[in-house]
Amino acid sequence: MDRALRQDEARALRRAAAHALRYREAATGATVPPAAGVGEMMGRFRTALHDKGMAATEVIDTIARDAEDGLNRMSSPNFYGYVMGGSHPVGVAADMMVSAWGQNAGSSFETPAITAMERAVCDWGLDLLGLPADCGVGLVTGASVANMVAVMAARNALLAAQGWDVEAQGLHGAPEIPVLIGNDAHSAPFAALRYAGFGAERAIRVATDDQGRIAPEPFFEALDRCKAPPLVVLQAGQINTGAFDPFAALIPAVRAKGGWVHVDGAFGLWLAAVPELAGRLAGVQGADSWAVDLHKWLNAPFDAGMVICRDRAPLVRSMTARGAYLPALSDQWEPADSTPELSRRARGVPSYAIMRHLGRAGVRALIARHCALAERAAGLLAAEPGISVLNEIHSNQVAVTFGEGAEGDAQTEAVLAHVQKRGRVYPTHGTWRGRQIMRISVICHATQQADIELLAAEVIGAWRQVGKGAL
Ligand SMILES: Cc1ncc(COP(=O)(O)O)c(C=O)c1O
Repeated sequence: MDRALRQDEARALRRAAAHALRYREAATGATVPPAAGVGEMMGRFRTALHDKGMAATEVIDTIARDAEDGLNRMSSPNFYGYVMGGSHPVGVAADMMVSAWGQNAGSSFETPAITAMERAVCDWGLDLLGLPADCGVGLVTGASVANMVAVMAARNALLAAQGWDVEAQGLHGAPEIPVLIGNDAHSAPFAALRYAGFGAERAIRVATDDQGRIAPEPFFEALDRCKAPPLVVLQAGQINTGAFDPFAALIPAVRAKGGWVHVDGAFGLWLAAVPELAGRLAGVQGADSWAVDLHKWLNAPFDAGMVICRDRAPLVRSMTARGAYLPALSDQWEPADSTPELSRRARGVPSYAIMRHLGRAGVRALIARHCALAERAAGLLAAEPGISVLNEIHSNQVAVTFGEGAEGDAQTEAVLAHVQKRGRVYPTHGTWRGRQIMRISVICHATQQADIELLAAEVIGAWRQVGKGAL
């Protein structure tokens, strides 16, 4: 055995792989949410640091044993919470190698194999999404950071156009940049505006329709009032309704004014990969930047997302941080030039494995299936008296309420609590247009029609009990 790996360490690696496999094999059939809460887990894990260490295999076995009932089975086909992909097993397999390889993915000079795989993910991602092949792409932790980086690239470009070098001078004394954003945007782009120094409250919030889409008329009025080329943040996939802003109507008007359009497409941008569905977000390719997750619809293991900029230059100008001791700039795509981090894991490799495994047709089929299953779930639930689906099904999100008014809100909470407690399926909560809702996101690679039937049976069963006053 090579001295780099002692026998007990090799055993620990094998044990970890065995535990991981056992966990994934048990994912169906088991209850979804954790049986133990954070207090119990803190008691188990937050011990004093002992002077004496523990054998490698014992550490791994102890972690696997003690964590099991404190894990939420987010990779289960019955997990419908938030908007989270289910960590595709082929991506997980690749991720194990990523950890074992221990590569710092920042430089093509130091780790050419990783750079080549990650570059392929960028190429394939642009190709699938119908975006120009020469866009700048950064592989980041997810859509929150992708939104932030894109907003910083926009800040660089919009201020440069007004003769201001924000990277050198900062924001103090800089010309004002108006910011427009939809009233039903996700919290992530608001956070991005804060991180970039634009301020979340300063942004002009534009009215939306009943699906959460920006309404063109108030948008054009707000655009007309902008005294300088604005930053406009649009959305592909509203968190409650899955709806899309009317890109084809809005984007050309912003660009005509010299503005920058950024699209938060964390999950919804993936519909652009499916020819039968891409019409729902027609015109989205006209934007200047996009944020999209790989750990959501592609089901890459956490964490992975892409920030994409039509013009690579402001992306690199806003992100790059070069030191004299680092490898020289090459004419290759340099991973660290488009992300905030210098050192990072090879987070693109699991996505490479998943894309290669599924192929173009497989990625398209995955997204199309989830959209069809969301419609099926909505249909089954809406057919039950007293259950209302509040949204049209634009993609994979279903917003459900039970009963009417304030009593209905309490009933909705009771139904959700009961469904979650039984734990056979796991939707989560939200509010939409003044109502408490149960949110259902269909996004796990493993979810099939039979799982949707189970979801509907569980939810309808709970509602019938609540309706009878039995819960
Ligand atoms: C529309 C939207 N934007 C941004 C985000 C943030 O993405 P992440 O959690 O990957 O950072 C989410 C997460 O659900 C989202 O749905």
